[in-house]
Amino acid sequence: MPGDATAPCVLDERIAAGTAVVGVIGLGYVGLPLALAYARRGFPVRGYDTDIDKIATLAAGRSYLRDVPAEAVRVEVAAGRFTAAADPAVLGECDAVFVCVPTPFTRQKEPDVRHIADAAREVARWGRSGQVVVLRSTSYPGTTEGVVRPALEAAGRAVGRDVFLAFAPERIDPGNTRYGVEDVPVVVGGCDPESTRLASALLARLGAPVVPVSSPAAAEMAKLLENVFRNVNIALVNQVAQLCERMGLDVWEIIEAAATKPYGFLPFRPGLVGGHCIPVDPYYLAWKAREHDFHMDFIELAARVNEEMPFYVVNRLLAALHDNGSTGRGRALVLGVAFKRDVDDARYSPALRVVELLQRRRMDVVYHDPYVPQVEVRGVRLVSQPLTDTLVASADCVLILTDHSCVDYAAVVRAARLVFDVRNATAAVCEGREKIVRL
Ligand SMILES: NC(=O)c1ccc[n+]([C@@H]2O[C@H](COP(=O)([O-])OP(=O)(O)OC[C@H]3O[C@@H](n4cnc5c(N)ncnc54)[C@H](O)[C@@H]3O)[C@@H](O)[C@H]2O)c1
Repeated sequence: MPGDATAPCVLDERIAAGTAVVGVIGLGYVGLPLALAYARRGFPVRGYDTDIDKIATLAAGRSYLRDVPAEAVRVEVAAGRFTAAADPAVLGECDAVFVCVPTPFTRQKEPDVRHIADAAREVARWGRSGQVVVLRSTSYPGTTEGVVRPALEAAGRAVGRDVFLAFAPERIDPGNTRYGVEDVPVVVGGCDPESTRLASALLARLGAPVVPVSSPAAAEMAKLLENVFRNVNIALVNQVAQLCERMGLDVWEIIEAAATKPYGFLPFRPGLVGGHCIPVDPYYLAWKAREHDFHMDFIELAARVNEEMPFYVVNRLLAALHDNGSTGRGRALVLGVAFKRDVDDARYSPALRVVELLQRRRMDVVYHDPYVPQVEVRGVRLVSQPLTDTLVASADCVLILTDHSCVDYAAVVRAARLVFDVRNATAAVCEGREKIVRL
């Protein structure tokens, strides 16, 4: 247990003065923007990540994320406010430690909290008394109390006395330029009132309102409710989209019409659901619910509908190709493989599932994604092709799976033989509409 204990009142003063040393474990999509947000406000920040390539990039003052400009990293590194290390010993220098490590699921779609457990052990080993520790990774209710707390207590640090522990879910939305760190309220649930107070004081320094709740489990549940809500509503519109197709109705027109109601309705768009949050997090809750002899039928049903969508998209595409006189064995050009618009993240991307299904049907699949230079599908590396009229015209069909805003969809439609638009990216295209099939 290196270093001296910091009394809560000293920690309060350091937080208020902006001199508290802030540690961030896991410098990914969540941890890096968080680290830089504190550094920008003058806090000394120590980033720690096990990925030595990321550390080398950051330590050299560069970025590896599209949402984080290189200049933002360079300025903080040059000013000495932000350091990045692959050595957990830096945690001993910190007054506060944020844990921002991944929470994937296993092949059987059960929670995998191994990274949280590892990070907790690192804090226990390298941290010191008086620290406030805030878990930000999304996980099932009970993770902070059941995984992080025992690791700290095994190192002889009592929570609420020697160390302060809270859960504060991250709500960042990569690619969303409208809402920054300052704009999104933060929910905070500590293991005890002092932990909630200290974690709230620290998070309040980022400028957004802080919403304290009664426990870490309440904050963990709130985050899962947000993501389950989204997943279930997308599943609902995905079913409505399928029904609309059968009834000859335009689901996009219907959603826009319904969305004119000023209360009681939120527009969700149909399509492929991907990424590391919306399709993953609900399984964390469904898994936990079973421990309580409770079955979250909504989650299972939404998963069934949403996970069926890549198959539905492929079947619709094959039907459209057939109507177009094609054998369905030719070339498909996929536009966009990132899991959503304007991001460079292809983790858990449903577009890759579609590519795989098309390849299994022996289609020659090529792709263009301005933000994802290469991907691996079934162990084979695919490289993004430059988007030219020649490439578009060489394909039997163009499949718009991710609607990056920098793509000229009118030009794509002009050069294409057939366009299957899963995202309604071609809504405003007038010329060549007869070539477009929409979800
Ligand atoms: N990305 C998002 O948009 C988003 C939004 C809200 C919540 N979340 C949640 O936040 C968490 C982090 O997500 P992310 O997208 O930033 O993940 P990420 O994979 O981009 O980053 C996590 C980082 O943690 C590092 N890491 C893993 N184990 C470590 C350890 N033991 N010690 C130090 N570093 C370690 C990895 O090398 C990686 O760089 C997840 O629980 C995720 O569900 C993500």
